[in-house]
Amino acid sequence: MRGAKLWWSNVTETPETVIAAPHETDNLDPRTDAPAHTVEPVHIAPVKLGNITVPTPVVLSPMAGVTNWPFRVICEEYGPDGLYVAEMITARALVARNPKALRLCHFAPSEKIRSLQLYGVNPSITEQAAKIVVDEGMADHVDLNFGCPVPKVTRRGGGSALPWKTDIFSDLIARVVAVCEPAGIPVTAKIRVGIDHEHETFLEAGHIAQEEGCKAVTLHARTTAEYYGGHSDWSRIGELKEHLDIPVFGNGDIWGAEDALAMVQQTGCDGVAIGRGCQGRPWLFANIKNAFAGNPERLNPNLGEVCTVIRRHAELLTQFYEGDEMMAVHDLRKHIAWYLKGFPVGGSTRKAFMECESLADVDREIGRLDPTVEYPERIIDKPRGRVRFAKKVHLPYGWLESRTTSHEEREALFGDDPMDASY
Ligand SMILES: Cc1cc2nc3c(=O)[nH]c(=O)nc-3n(C[C@H](O)[C@H](O)[C@H](O)COP(=O)(O)O)c2cc1C
Repeated sequence: MRGAKLWWSNVTETPETVIAAPHETDNLDPRTDAPAHTVEPVHIAPVKLGNITVPTPVVLSPMAGVTNWPFRVICEEYGPDGLYVAEMITARALVARNPKALRLCHFAPSEKIRSLQLYGVNPSITEQAAKIVVDEGMADHVDLNFGCPVPKVTRRGGGSALPWKTDIFSDLIARVVAVCEPAGIPVTAKIRVGIDHEHETFLEAGHIAQEEGCKAVTLHARTTAEYYGGHSDWSRIGELKEHLDIPVFGNGDIWGAEDALAMVQQTGCDGVAIGRGCQGRPWLFANIKNAFAGNPERLNPNLGEVCTVIRRHAELLTQFYEGDEMMAVHDLRKHIAWYLKGFPVGGSTRKAFMECESLADVDREIGRLDPTVEYPERIIDKPRGRVRFAKKVHLPYGWLESRTTSHEEREALFGDDPMDASY
């Protein structure tokens, strides 16, 4: 447990275990040292998740605050045969019928596979959430989040901290599978390499997920401590693929179609999951679909075409927020920043977009742009989105001392939970 120490958190007012982040020299920024890929065509087959077939095994990786149905619909229009996962829904919020959580469970009629991700720490509450999904016919596929590195999640033992505790991890998966499987809903798990390199969990977690009935595993090949910094270490995806019989989706640092080909070539993974690479670039799904089909065509739309996508995104978000244009346009702001990235659009115009409050405001600002500007060469297939190093990993007190939870630890995690009938 080198580097691990106890910490008295002033947020939770309970002691917690904190481990230092990796030294930055071990954790280089992919923007500056991304390797060049030699890319050849790859053989990629449809992936079966139980009764569901994903013809082109490209996944829109769940992203909180990003992958609501308007964005998913736009991505799916570019790559019609993939899997487009909703942003994570907290099991507890779903069980409590929190209106915001319920809104995130909505799908558009055009979505072919309604794919929803649940996040939970408590197996009993996650099971209850899965029952709601099944009983109310909310989704066709359930993914489980064991990858989140955010301190407020890991300090409760959730997200990427959970696979360390193999008893809770397997119990949670088993309960969700037991609810979903009879309804024909495949369950998959999304994991990281581990908490840090001294506490790796991915091989064991992959085996447990497989044994408990998951139909596939997605590996984001970073540790919790690496957060979104450095590289996704694709060699770990290859390692996991060698160990498992169920399909493995590789995730991390796919910025262009050639990266997707390279990941499949290098790791033998069954499919790829795309996160930040498609922020403001939903046509990446068309490019990857073409690449997998051996078609060299790549979309790099000009500014006018990008503005058409922005306008459509705004309209869909307005539907998502039931006609509330202000909420829609506020949600759209971050997307606009991503859509306009690299285009020669001045600071005052960008600021004006960030101050839009209605569709008319968005139209006005779009009208001021030159639609003929070509897609900027220098940002094609280049990294984007969040690259942040974790300073420390926050975990429940004593979390790393054992791979299973003691009665006391379970009590501390779930004991006073009013929603949990089993405690
Ligand atoms: C803004 C943002 C939100 C995210 N939200 C989730 C989430 O809700 N569930 C999840 O499993 N992963 C989430 N992730 C992680 C991504 O799904 C993905 O694993 C990660 O970004 C690495 O892939 P990439 O290099 O292609 O971005 C999020 C990532 C970002 C950047």
